[in-house]
Amino acid sequence: MSSSTHHISTSATTTIRHIYVHIPFCARICPYCAFYKELLDRSQTQRFCDAILSELRQQAQDQHLLPSTIYFGGGTPTALTTPQLEFLMAGFRYELDLSALIESTVEANPGSASAGKAALLQRLGINRISLGIQSWDDDLLNLLGREHNAKQGEESFDIFRGAGFSNINIDLMFGLPGQTLRQWQSTLERTVSLRPEHISTYCLTYEEDTEFFLRHARGEFRQDSDADAEFFAMTMSILEAAGYEHYEISNYARPGFRSAHNRAYWSGSDYLGIGPSAFSTTGMTRWQNIPDFRRYAEAVLAGKSAIGSVEHLTPEMKRAEQIALSLRTDDGAPAPLLESFPNETREFVRLGLLQRARGNFVLTRAGKALADSVAEAFV
Ligand SMILES: C[S@@+](CC[C@H](N)C(=O)[O-])C[C@H]1O[C@@H](n2cnc3c(N)ncnc32)[C@H](O)[C@@H]1O
Ligand code: SF4
Repeated sequence: MSSSTHHISTSATTTIRHIYVHIPFCARICPYCAFYKELLDRSQTQRFCDAILSELRQQAQDQHLLPSTIYFGGGTPTALTTPQLEFLMAGFRYELDLSALIESTVEANPGSASAGKAALLQRLGINRISLGIQSWDDDLLNLLGREHNAKQGEESFDIFRGAGFSNINIDLMFGLPGQTLRQWQSTLERTVSLRPEHISTYCLTYEEDTEFFLRHARGEFRQDSDADAEFFAMTMSILEAAGYEHYEISNYARPGFRSAHNRAYWSGSDYLGIGPSAFSTTGMTRWQNIPDFRRYAEAVLAGKSAIGSVEHLTPEMKRAEQIALSLRTDDGAPAPLLESFPNETREFVRLGLLQRARGNFVLTRAGKALADSVAEAFV
């Protein structure tokens, strides 16, 4: 990516319908996490909220924003105080035309969820909550450095349900050091018993620049791809039997509750990211905001651009990305996208990893467990 201080504006006819907002603060830093985050510093959060609204105002001048989905992620949006959340959301309501909004999600961490925040988010029109539970096993939560235990996780789910949220996602992680299939089975079963509308299940990745990466490099933790495949197969069978549709490799939803925001992203729609480190893509241009909240706030509050770097996508890059993203979904990749790879496609079909369905190529059950390797062959 090249560095740039330019404003990017799309053509007047382009309407951006999907907005992501990055709130980087966390009360505790998890040792496996590579997302841009900062230890919560209450002396900085109000200035940060001012900066976000300032960037939003700039963006609303430069582009036509008519969001059908907004996603407040992080970091931990619920690490902000109730008055700050109210200030931030009120700003979004003031600056944007929300007449087309169908889905607005807030990521929440059980450690910072409260009845007051839940009631506020409900009153402000947030209609989807994504709750970072990760595990129902206290030892594993401890290993993951989480700020909550299983009991607090369940209490936070009840708080959001009690506040009236009828669309809740639960994030879970598998392939954790020392995790057994029995533990994962009971985590899935306890999750299903709460009847969330949506469940995301992520295989632990040892991300560079994390404590877990170092422990992996030192040989303290080992990745076992056979075990990961078993965790993955168990996830599919338990969640599908419980009525969840496996609509993307890591995502399951009860009928009618697929995430509109994620689907837009997977189908290659334009999206705008607001906040430090957030990515945006319109057409063949992708940019990333300054990945440091202090420098970000300084720039934006001085009326300067939030953009840190810009990348121009080539048609080949765009196609490879579209193949990788669409192959992960249950709609699969449109056949014309794979036309330039006749040999690879034929071979995957022969191996029973890909199949034709409704004019698309879709991963088979065996193919889903190898989704990343299959997608790589098309790069
Ligand atoms: C951006 S995080 C934000 C959620 C929230 N901060 C929390 O942790 O509760 C979204 C999800 O990504 C998953 N995740 C984060 N780091 C991961 C890693 N290294 N490997 C696999 N999944 C990861 C976790 O399930 C997490 O809930
Ligand atoms: S996993 Fe979530 S809570 Fe933990 S450091 Fe990352 S963003 Fe923060």
